[in-house]
Amino acid sequence: MSYDVDAVRREQFAWAADGETIYLNNASTGPLPQRTVDALAEWGRLRANPDRISHDRQFGELTQARERIADLIGATPSEIALATNTSFGLNLAAFSLPLQEGDVVVSPDGEFPANVYPWMQLGRQRGIEHRLLRCDGGVLQADQLSEILNDDRVRVLALSWVQFSTGARADLRALGALCRERGVYFVVDAIQGLGPLMLDLRDVHVDILSCGAQKWLLSPWGTGFTYVRRELIDVLEPHDVSWMGVRGADDFSRLVDYDLTWRRDARRFEFVTLPFQDFAAMNASLELLEEIGPAEASAHACRLADVLVDWALSREEVELVTPCASEQRAAIVSIRPRDATRTSERLRQANVAHSVREGAIRLSPHWYNTPDEIERALEAFAG
Ligand SMILES: Cc1ncc(COP(=O)(O)O)c(C=O)c1O
Repeated sequence: MSYDVDAVRREQFAWAADGETIYLNNASTGPLPQRTVDALAEWGRLRANPDRISHDRQFGELTQARERIADLIGATPSEIALATNTSFGLNLAAFSLPLQEGDVVVSPDGEFPANVYPWMQLGRQRGIEHRLLRCDGGVLQADQLSEILNDDRVRVLALSWVQFSTGARADLRALGALCRERGVYFVVDAIQGLGPLMLDLRDVHVDILSCGAQKWLLSPWGTGFTYVRRELIDVLEPHDVSWMGVRGADDFSRLVDYDLTWRRDARRFEFVTLPFQDFAAMNASLELLEEIGPAEASAHACRLADVLVDWALSREEVELVTPCASEQRAAIVSIRPRDATRTSERLRQANVAHSVREGAIRLSPHWYNTPDEIERALEAFAG
């Protein structure tokens, strides 16, 4: 059964229910539910005097965060390293995977720079080539990848699940299966996919998946995670070394008995100290998502995206940049009008939060938006 979107809005997003903004810009930054705002305030109050926060409560929030994320993506908590952004995990992949001079990393072109610059830097330092692929309609298809992998030097495929400006979605299952078959590492930036889309990593092969929580997971800036596939954890050595990445680190009474033996789980990669208050707030957001149901939330966001797509296809004066097939997109819909500047201005005047990307208007609804908001946004779009 679906949740009552109006009731959740009144409770958790009162500003949206009151019509302050039609917020269709989740692909930039997600809003914080009221319970998340409350959690931040409570942690601020406690943090004024750190003695109010027990060690167990402080570290318990991180344990809970790993568990909630693992539940959401079909992983185990031991495969989750908490991180403060998406870039962390992409750098982890670039600088920790066992690559050598002459190896090739491939990505579709048009990737968000977070998934380009670490690989370019790797090239500069170690002579590893980062090759950008031109993909039909912006989506890398399995048969194109299959051909590319005939070159034995290709060792890594690194891509965004959902492309940030076009909203094109990669088929992780098909690409992951091919990578596994051909012994190629599969690295995924999931930030524009997770939330509007569901993921079960028991079914989908990914080696390293990185995701900031500040967009579609409606969590504070400075929260996120990196998943590292169980079998890889033992093989990868952290590139950035944290004092809590080692096995003895939980015993604060023996910190100077130095022993550089990595933890057995993905915590070996966590770069401590983490912002406890922000992860406590992320837990509040994830708890809300669990209550309304991740599948229901995903279906709702995708339904709203469908309305935008259908509208764009019905209008001659605009071009739909996002693929129209529903399995090739998520909840980002980019529409190119004749004059993006004027359209953007009209949307602004109607309090419709959106982005302009590559000459197109990017609209990105989520599970707390309503069909009525979409209708009003499209009226403003049309002028
Ligand atoms: C595909 C993609 N990756 C990464 C990011 C952000 O990376 P980070 O969380 O490291 O700031 C964005 C958006 O800002 C994005 O759209």
